[in-house]
Formats: sequence, structure tokens, C-alpha cells
Amino acid sequence: MPEIGIIGGSGVYRMPSVELLREEVVDTPYGAPSDVYKILRISGIEVAFLARHGGGHAIPPHKVNYRANIRGFKSLGVKRLLSLGAVGGINPVISPGTIVVTDQIIDMTTGRASTFYDKDEVYHVDFSEPFCPELRAAFIEAAGAINLPVLQRGTYVCTNGPRFETRAEIRYYSIIGADVVGMTAMPEAALAREAEICYGTLATLTNYAAGIGREKLTTTEVIETINKSSINLNAMLQKTVSLITAQRNCPCKDALKDAKI
Ligand code: HPA
Repeated sequence: MPEIGIIGGSGVYRMPSVELLREEVVDTPYGAPSDVYKILRISGIEVAFLARHGGGHAIPPHKVNYRANIRGFKSLGVKRLLSLGAVGGINPVISPGTIVVTDQIIDMTTGRASTFYDKDEVYHVDFSEPFCPELRAAFIEAAGAINLPVLQRGTYVCTNGPRFETRAEIRYYSIIGADVVGMTAMPEAALAREAEICYGTLATLTNYAAGIGREKLTTTEVIETINKSSINLNAMLQKTVSLITAQRNCPCKDALKDAKI
């Protein structure tokens, strides 16, 4: 059973450079995940890969069935989830192509099913550190090992999309402390925590956010930058997978302990 999962974002719908072992169609009580899970062999280890927006990128960020995706990983036995995402740069010191190992999130999404616990049981999981400290450390160690400069922390503001932001919104997000803006880390990260799955993000900066750089934002620019970054992302993922320990010593594995009312 794969204990490591990868969730690919915009521009990352498969990992052609690694061995495909099999495909798993998974159904969940929350409906169908975005796509089949591709079971890959990376650095000798089985890894489950899912394209967040579907194989042909037909699912926009606000329509992704985040609960089904996370529940699907859980039922495959995944304990550590490496997520990829494209982001716009709010902090002007971060240039396009940079990979950010984000450490905080601000959630500005609305109307997304954001918990597994909205019926009989009430849980409040600790989310002070939304990203697994062990996965973050593995990402940073992997970057060092392959000599790839990455930004070791950054605050991710998650907007609802699918439109890009206004200049005023970005100015506001900058004032409240956001460094990068994307549309998918929430509720994905929170659901992973509720599922007691470690969750870490490699956020690739694909463009300067509205008002930070050039006037008009385009999806072409986003996908082009991700494509250019794919060698770095693949190298990062392969190294990270090889560095992840089977034993988990982080709080993620006990997220539900003492969280139930
Ligand atoms: N805003 C929101 N999401 C994004 C952006 C952006 O500028 N770039 C890539 N994903």
C-alpha cells in the first residue's frame, strides 16, 4: 500500500518520468475523487498520485471535491501527502519559478465543504501549524541535497477563484501578511489534518499577483512557468520521497486526539 501521496496542481496531471505500477479507481462516501489514483514507483517507493483538477484539468478550484480526494488517499493507506500548487507572488522579493515551502495559511475561501465532521460528531483539530513539520523539513533537506534554492517559509492566502484577484485584494492580503496567493490549499490542508495525514506544499510561484507585476494575469503564464519548473519539481519530489521516514514523529498522526467535543 502506498504510504506517500502526491497531489498535482495546475500543469501537473501526471508524472511521466516515473514508473506507473497501476491505476486505482476509488469511490468515497463524499463522491468521486478528481481522477483515478496512479500508483507510481518513485525512488523505489510506492506513491499514489492524483491530479487535483482531473487529468484534463476540467475541475476548477472551487469545484474540486477536496473531501473525496483526501478520503481516497486515506483509503489507499496514504499517511504523507505532498501537494503541488501554482501561486501568484504577493511578496515582491519572490520571483517567478521560485518554489516556496509554505508554513502558514490564511483561508479566504467560501462555500467549500471544509470538514469531515459536520454531522453527529464535533471535532476542532489544532491547525496552528497547517503544514506537517516533518514534511517541511524533508522538502528543505531535499532542496539542499539537489542544490535547488527554495524559499523555506511563506504564508499562503487561499482565495476562492476561479477569477484572479483585484489589485486592492492583493494589497489587503499583503497587509495581513500573505506572501503568495493560490486557490487550492484550503480546505485540502485542513481535511488532511482531520484525516491525520501529514500534508506539505511545494508552491511554485508562476506570476506576480495582481498589481505586483504586469497589468494582466493569464493562465498561459501560469502553465508556462509550471512547465518550465517541472524538472525542478520532479527532482524535489523524487528526493523528498527518498528522505521521508516510515516512522511519523509529528503531531499530524494524532490530530483527532483531544479534538472531540
Ligand atoms: N492568484 C491566485 N491563484 C494563482 C495565481 C494568482 O495570481 N497564480 C497561480 N495561481
